[in-house]
Amino acid sequence: MPTKIEKDALTGTDTTGHEWDGLKELNTPLPKWWLYLLYVTIAFSAVWVVLYPAFPFKGWTGVTGWVAREAVVQDVAAANARMAPMMNRIREATPQQIAADPELRSFAMAGGRIAFANNCAGCHGAGGQGAVGGFPSLADDDWIWGGTHDAIRATIQHGIRAGESDEERVSVMPRFVADGVLTLAQASDAAEFVLSLSGRATDQAAVERGKPLFAENCVSCHGENGEGNRDVGAPRLNDRVWLHASDRASIARYIANPRLGVMPAWGGRLDPATVNMLTVYVHALGGGEN
Ligand code: HEC
Ligand code: HEC
Repeated sequence: MPTKIEKDALTGTDTTGHEWDGLKELNTPLPKWWLYLLYVTIAFSAVWVVLYPAFPFKGWTGVTGWVAREAVVQDVAAANARMAPMMNRIREATPQQIAADPELRSFAMAGGRIAFANNCAGCHGAGGQGAVGGFPSLADDDWIWGGTHDAIRATIQHGIRAGESDEERVSVMPRFVADGVLTLAQASDAAEFVLSLSGRATDQAAVERGKPLFAENCVSCHGENGEGNRDVGAPRLNDRVWLHASDRASIARYIANPRLGVMPAWGGRLDPATVNMLTVYVHALGGGEN
């Protein structure tokens, strides 16, 4: 390959002397400032590799010993240490005492809001408004298991039908049609009677047929007038708040083969202080009872 350096007629730039099939390469080196910047970054990285972690080797290399991950651990430990006195007071107090003390209360509300967003919002909604599919609103005054501080704390601590705690909340609504206790037609009549409890029935004959079925099969848990029973977590049926079903067809399907809500026990997952903060937070969402 000929290596004759010549001036390119069109641009006035020297060629490198390389030529391929009549194509000649112009010699246009990098600008000096760019080149020096490159050398500076290479020098910088060499210094960095010596000072700071670059390769995993018996822990990490780097003569300063500084590691970002450990710095974060220290920051978190420092933050925890700052909060420790407050967390200890929250842990020792009852939710009622926390709610009554302005200082503890505001700390618990802030901590409870974060813990709720991290652990509960996925099922109960960001504002505790609940979600379709059996996830109850925690922001209204309609409670399945109870809305006092003690009841809320017990629910959070031990969970519901999750099989994780001996003291969990548990009850089972029978599968009336699936287990052969009622026929589908009877379930539909019972559903119409359930609607009549909140003044929404449209088929009086079905209500009459459903009434004795309800008296015989349902009042033991849901109460004479469908007022519900917190001891067995049976929801009120004479209001317009629905967990699983809300019209005749879906209520009949529910009676035929109920789905039972499950909530994890948080006592084994969260610090007792966090459970207390969540209790105060949920109680304050709107429907807390005394
Ligand atoms: C995996 C979904 C899920 C998560 C996560 C969850 N829950 Fe629940 N929770 C439920 C379900 C389902 C029910 C209703 C159970 C039933 O049908 O009795 C419930 C019920 C409750 C109740 C009782 C409501 C009442 O009316 O008595 C409270 C209080 C509660 N949850 C608080 C919390 C808190 C606080 C957290 C976060 C620490 C949380 N839940 C996380 C699913 C969940
Ligand atoms: C052994 C107690 C028990 C009996 C008996 C029982 N239920 Fe229930 N029922 C429950 C429980 C507990 C729930 C809530 C399940 C859950 O929270 O996931 C429930 C939920 C319901 C719901 C859903 C309410 C909603 O808000 O979506 C309807 C409707 C219902 N029951 C109707 C009936 C009817 C009608 C009968 C009689 C044919 C009956 N139940 C008998 C315990 C019972």
